[in-house]
Amino acid sequence: MTLQGGLGSPLTAGALSGKPRDGLVATVLQGRPGTAMPPWQPFMTQDEAQWLIERLQAGQAPAVPGR
Ligand code: HEM
Repeated sequence: MTLQGGLGSPLTAGALSGKPRDGLVATVLQGRPGTAMPPWQPFMTQDEAQWLIERLQAGQAPAVPGR
């Protein structure tokens, strides 16, 4: 919700700048084996993962309801 990380790494635009978009999309879809990052492939398409990473890298994360 804050994108500052904790268990995982921060997902702010600053933290993600310079990281290859395709690699981040692959991380979302496949997770990072050996870490707590799970694969999200069962729950979202490639296009949706790409959209999410584009929003995060632009610093325009989808709004959190009630915040
Ligand atoms: C849809 C929800 C999620 C998205 C979009 C997401 C996205 C990402 C991305 C893009 C990275 C790579 C960051 C980078 O390389 O700079 C990452 C890393 C990570 N995420 Fe997630 N994540 C999600 C949920 C979770 C959950 C639920 C957990 C744990 C319960 C988790 C744990 C981690 C961890 C531990 C890493 C670092 C892996 C490493 O050491 O290489 N993530 N996540």
